[in-house]
Amino acid sequence: MTRSITILGGSGFVGRSIANRLIAAGYNLRIPTRDPEQVHPDIRILPETEILQADIHDPQTLKDLIAGSRCAINLVGILNEKGRDGSGFRHVHVELPRKLLAACRAQGVRRILHMSALNADPINGPSHYLRTKGEGEALLHEQTEIQVTTFRPSVIFGPGDGFFARFAGLLAIAPGIFPLPCAQARFAPVHVVDVAEAFARAIDDRVTFGRRYDLCGPREYTLAELVRYTARCRGLSRAVMPLPDLISRIQAAILDFVPGKPFSTDNYLSAQVDSVCKCSGLNALGIRPSPVEAIVPRYLRT
Ligand SMILES: NC(=O)c1ccc[n+]([C@@H]2O[C@H](COP(=O)([O-])OP(=O)(O)OC[C@H]3O[C@@H](n4cnc5c(N)ncnc54)[C@H](OP(=O)(O)O)[C@@H]3O)[C@@H](O)[C@H]2O)c1
Repeated sequence: MTRSITILGGSGFVGRSIANRLIAAGYNLRIPTRDPEQVHPDIRILPETEILQADIHDPQTLKDLIAGSRCAINLVGILNEKGRDGSGFRHVHVELPRKLLAACRAQGVRRILHMSALNADPINGPSHYLRTKGEGEALLHEQTEIQVTTFRPSVIFGPGDGFFARFAGLLAIAPGIFPLPCAQARFAPVHVVDVAEAFARAIDDRVTFGRRYDLCGPREYTLAELVRYTARCRGLSRAVMPLPDLISRIQAAILDFVPGKPFSTDNYLSAQVDSVCKCSGLNALGIRPSPVEAIVPRYLRT
């Protein structure tokens, strides 16, 4: 059987770890991107990896991309969109999985590994992000012709992450006090290497076909605890001040209009449900999750 795997969204933070793990396992990879110039050097130097500029939303391009693949991996996701109506989320989280399914059917690719998010739910998800992630997941799992496995992580950490590294940057420029919205929201951060291991183990494991795995690290923390920990790792003396709920919401509504949306109303709504696992998918896959304390100081202190 072919050892070729196409990874949509393979140029991002999680994609880097998955690509490394799959190359080590002897696969060859095809990674489309909107802009090859922006692709991280760690991916560009990978052997057996073809990086190509492509519009993955074009159905014919997508078909051509996955031709001959043993498996298609979909990591494409956005935390925020330009408008506020959810149409950008729908385009990326719902329409793209639908197109990927059609492309797999057309090309005889019988395996998809899909990245969703913890608490994704097409009906009860509190935010556009979580509802559209839930819709994408549901449409992939409501058919049986193609074997789909979905992963639903809490926040993912590792060098270059958008969580610890981002808070470290924000703390560095804050004066003595750091006002924090949604400070009591709970997370169980999961190491990106463990996430990559879950993807790698699932490729040929029939037990995982049709299943969805919630991925969490070994401990739960409030956002305030994680931000205070980040400050300590960086040696920064900052008083983290939890904001009342109404102020958090108002701050999000204001930041909706700031370019790059450092925090948005949709992010605020996502944080209304705790991002923690009832049942650990990593345990089910035989992976021992790495604790934050064993990994984060290594890259935050440098
Ligand atoms: N990181 C986390 O803590 C976390 C937690 C839960 C779930 N997830 C999910 O995990 C997946 C990967 O996350 P990540 O942190 O690796 O994200 P990332 O670093 O932002 O990477 C996202 C990738 O998706 C591609 N992409 C983004 N928007 C696109 C668009 N409109 N059209 C085509 N391609 C697009 C980008 O490719 P190019 O820019 O190269 O085209 C990039 O490679 C996402 O689905 C995310 O929702 C992440």
